[in-house]
Amino acid sequence: MRKATWGLLLLLLLLLACVATCDPSEQDQNGDEKGPRRRGHVSVVVVGGTGDLANKYLWQGFFTLYATQVGKGHTFAFYGGGLSPAERGTPLLFEILKSQACPEELSAERCALIRDQFLRLTQYRQLKTEEDYQTLGQHIKTQLAQEDMKEAGRLFYLSVPAFAYADVAERVNRSCRPPRSAWLRVVLEKPFGHDLRSAQELATRLASSLREDEMYRIDHYLGKQVVSQILPFRKQNRKFLKQIWNKHHIDRMEIVLKETLDAKGRISFYDQYGVIRDVIQNHLTEMMTLLTMTVPKNLTDCKEIDQNKLKVFSAFHPLDKDSAVIGQYQSYNSEVQLELNKTKDHLSLTPTFTGIAVFTTMPQYEGIPIFLTSGKLLDERVGYARITFKNNVFCVQDPNSVACRQKQIVFYIGHGALGYPGILVTKNLFRPALVGSLWKEVSEDKDTLLFGMPLSDYYIQVPTVQREAYTELILQVFRGRMDHFVSADSLLASWRFWTPLLDSQTREFPRPYPGGVANGNQLDFELHGRQVRFCTESLVNVIPQERSGGGGAGDESFQVMQGKYRGADMVSAWPAELVERLADDLQEAAEEATEEGVPFHLALSGGSSPVALFRRLARHHHAFPWWNTHVWLADERCVPPAEAESNFRTVHDHLLRHVAVPYLHVHPMPVQLNQRLCVEEDGGAAAYEREMARLVNGSSFGYVLLGAGADGHTASLFPGTPPDAHGERLVALTESPVKPHQRMSLTFAAINRAQRVGVLIMGKGKHELVTQLSRIKDTPDRWPITKVQPASGRLVWYIDYESLLGQ
Ligand code: BG6
Repeated sequence: MRKATWGLLLLLLLLLACVATCDPSEQDQNGDEKGPRRRGHVSVVVVGGTGDLANKYLWQGFFTLYATQVGKGHTFAFYGGGLSPAERGTPLLFEILKSQACPEELSAERCALIRDQFLRLTQYRQLKTEEDYQTLGQHIKTQLAQEDMKEAGRLFYLSVPAFAYADVAERVNRSCRPPRSAWLRVVLEKPFGHDLRSAQELATRLASSLREDEMYRIDHYLGKQVVSQILPFRKQNRKFLKQIWNKHHIDRMEIVLKETLDAKGRISFYDQYGVIRDVIQNHLTEMMTLLTMTVPKNLTDCKEIDQNKLKVFSAFHPLDKDSAVIGQYQSYNSEVQLELNKTKDHLSLTPTFTGIAVFTTMPQYEGIPIFLTSGKLLDERVGYARITFKNNVFCVQDPNSVACRQKQIVFYIGHGALGYPGILVTKNLFRPALVGSLWKEVSEDKDTLLFGMPLSDYYIQVPTVQREAYTELILQVFRGRMDHFVSADSLLASWRFWTPLLDSQTREFPRPYPGGVANGNQLDFELHGRQVRFCTESLVNVIPQERSGGGGAGDESFQVMQGKYRGADMVSAWPAELVERLADDLQEAAEEATEEGVPFHLALSGGSSPVALFRRLARHHHAFPWWNTHVWLADERCVPPAEAESNFRTVHDHLLRHVAVPYLHVHPMPVQLNQRLCVEEDGGAAAYEREMARLVNGSSFGYVLLGAGADGHTASLFPGTPPDAHGERLVALTESPVKPHQRMSLTFAAINRAQRVGVLIMGKGKHELVTQLSRIKDTPDRWPITKVQPASGRLVWYIDYESLLGQ
């Protein structure tokens, strides 16, 4: 028993000895580890060492690490690992290594010397099989023994696709794990899953090979100089901020990453992820937590940082579909078709733009909107977090005086109008203390405006030397500074927060935008309570159609319909939203008539499409002025009104029996007279026409709601009827090709007199029709619906995405 306790204690001590440095007392001023215990040999293995990321950033980071650490007590060996055999990998790796830039602080001669050493210490290794990892592990061991070196640790940077993480981690664990006296650090980068469940699965698999303190999950935004100073800034300036960093003073927070590039070249990744998974769930979320978490007492204590972050996550209001707007740049689909080898009718719903509003229940920030926005192919490349403050000053004589200008603090990551990273505080707030000895205050007299104010209105502090985020983070991995990395708990908390929103968007159609300055205000979004909506109404949709004046099949292309369809307005959405919108429009029309003091005459069609609309009107439109509404029928089947097939029965069951329309305002079509159905001599059509003439001013309905059959019929006007068959008549008996054959219908003369006409088309089954109609000219005898052209009224097509996209 005693033995077991001692054993356990020993194990614990050993574990503590190689746990990463979370405790700042173990670091010197530069953040380097103190004491001889940790000095020794470090093996760095970049798995995926000849890939794009390694080429662009990682080797630069390791070269800078070497250049800044050499001579400080550690020795190094670097390995670039790849799947290719050494004959192919070695020249590739050395091409990359030769081109790495020297850190600014080194002289040219010293740099040449160091580069030479660095090249000699680096070798390529094929890392494909389990044996390859075993050979590497053996090689490191032999080298240490031959040169009688004490081992400090092994750093593995996994620059490989995420699906390979778990396998590589298992191999590292099995074949390359150092003895207990040395550390193991494995660096990983997003994507860490694509939702909560997949992130949990990955975390579980990785945890079977690596301890949490051995995993360094990189978010390269945490290595951006400005981002890494958000907490130090808040701490250094707490005497100013404690008064104003709260809901009484902060107006809003904006966290923005705008890009001018598109997703070309990386569609196979991007199309599965989209903007929220790509940059919001990680980079912008990290910034959001740094801005809203309680500043830890100890800025390098990763446990305290983590606890404070988790509290932030648990306090956010949950997100849903209405928390965000999404967009997609217009050429995205053709890029997807090309890069993923898809056919022309493949349509991706992956968003490349988003605008989101987040709210928290933390009492300090309750009610403050935190806007997150990011997009590809926008007008400029810029990243920042901006906090604007309420203006509590009333400038009596000069509204332009400094005191009355916008008060703001900006953490400017780079690019954009400023062109460099900096922390800016408007002079009407306070003069901030420098965040560290490696930062300096600069003054700018340039006329440049930043957020509407000249740069001279800001106190600006900038880093003395600009460093790449990866270079910064590689240094922090070497130092074992876990506070610069993402813990498993906060990663999962982030996915827990974002997954419901992502799930709610799977069928949402992103608003297409042209890209660059041409986007104008199309992507502006606004808040309604806690909901976010685009400011402009215009709906932009993509459907396949021939170019106007174009010819054969080869001419097919995706054209953008900016809220127009066959020259009239179009509203398009997924079915539920479309019905909501149509119901709103109907209520608006009814209210307008009521305000004008005239009755609202509404003619409804049968069929299944409008049933959802009737239900919505009955359940949600309690303020609809039913008392002032007359309900008519656009067409009717010649069956007794109580039968299930009767259009009147449908309207009755789903709408009329639930709303307070006065009895005398309900006007079923008189298909049954003299105990027989639709006999010309009984004069039912003429009677309906007379009733219209008596009650409806000019027989012009306020609203006619139509549908369209797959064969192009509308109301009960079927293909093959000559366009002038009914002359000036407003109601006629007609023939349907399907049972029940006999019908009564408003004619085009009646429909086209209406003040508004809505055509509702829903369901996958209508895709062919929607595509056809978008291509053809008016051909009423073949496609009766094309004759719906109100003379002076407004026509709106309501087409759902299922029929638009055939999905
Ligand atoms: C990456 C995303 O994580 O961040 C890219 O995958 C994005 O889509 C990039 O372009 C932005 O980073 P930076 O450092 O260029 O602002």
